Amino acid sequence: MNETKPPEFKTQFAEDVFKGLTSYPKKISSKFFYDEKGDELFQKIMELPEYYLTGKEYDILLQHREEIGDAFSSFNGFDLIELGAGDGKKTKVLLRHFEEKSYDYKYLPVDISKNVLEQLSDSLLQEFPALDVEPQQGTYANVLTRLADYRDRKKVILFLGSNIGNLTPEEAVAFLKKISSAMHEKDLFFMGVDQKKEPQVILDAYNDSAGVTEAFNKNLLTRMNRELEADFDPETFIHWPLYNPETGVAKSYLVSTKEQTVQINALNLEVHFHKWETIHTEVSQKYDDTSIAWLAEEAGLEMAGSWADKDNCYKNYLFKRTGL
Ligand SMILES: C[S@@+](CC[C@H](N)C(=O)[O-])C[C@H]1O[C@@H](n2cnc3c(N)ncnc32)[C@H](O)[C@@H]1O
Repeated sequence: MNETKPPEFKTQFAEDVFKGLTSYPKKISSKFFYDEKGDELFQKIMELPEYYLTGKEYDILLQHREEIGDAFSSFNGFDLIELGAGDGKKTKVLLRHFEEKSYDYKYLPVDISKNVLEQLSDSLLQEFPALDVEPQQGTYANVLTRLADYRDRKKVILFLGSNIGNLTPEEAVAFLKKISSAMHEKDLFFMGVDQKKEPQVILDAYNDSAGVTEAFNKNLLTRMNRELEADFDPETFIHWPLYNPETGVAKSYLVSTKEQTVQINALNLEVHFHKWETIHTEVSQKYDDTSIAWLAEEAGLEMAGSWADKDNCYKNYLFKRTGL
């Protein structure tokens, strides 16, 4: 790989791509999957028969909305802050219930994708015209630093879709510590977590037969072509997911099927790939009650409730801050 001095990084994507493709092994964070094309592909993934996560969480929220709503509600209202809200399809199950109950609350969806937030805001305006919504575009890190400022009334932080799985367990502990330290008495943290299960079921969720997840993973290459003037040929990479039932980690890679050199003009960078060299693109960590209890203890969170589907395939956990 030949490298000359890079230009100033214009975006976080540019900086992370530069760092990730000049390190070994090569990597790019999954948070960059979500541009306009990526959002569209992820919405297709959620409809796939193999991607059970969405349907399971939807059913849990629908079935237990009454109890969940009772836990969230507060006599002087609450702020509902959702990290990585996406299209909000499942959250709307709760929002509909809160509307029926005439709860006084404000909804603050946060997402890195400007596009998906605009879609969500438009659909909320149609479906919940009276709802007080304040969307915020940004990363979890941006929002975590401001989270403690929401202190005038109870806050409920939502983290659905097993987004926690996109962090390594060490990153998850650091992330949850920040959440718990921003929580006051009565504040709640509600998180959806995909559970360890039959390994083939997990592997299939990231390797659907229609090839949508493959296109989603390869969208990183076309995104670099579009936004960073790169010349990746997606046909020369294969999508390679794997699952380790011992550690509960599912990972996805892009694997170069030939020796090649790619130009990334906007970064003034030439990236060399050996035949079969990888780019690590996604972590989807799976948990169980024991590992979640460890995570919570490390982070200073105390479990206040949990709801699962009948096969314990997927779980939603409710936490408060320890010792408050
Ligand atoms: C797996 S999707 C889940 C969406 C939604 N929570 C659900 O359950 O359907 C992850 C969402 O989080 C957003 N996201 C991923 N990484 C992020 C980050 N670091 N900061 C903010 N949003 C992020 C993505 O844009 C995407 O909308």
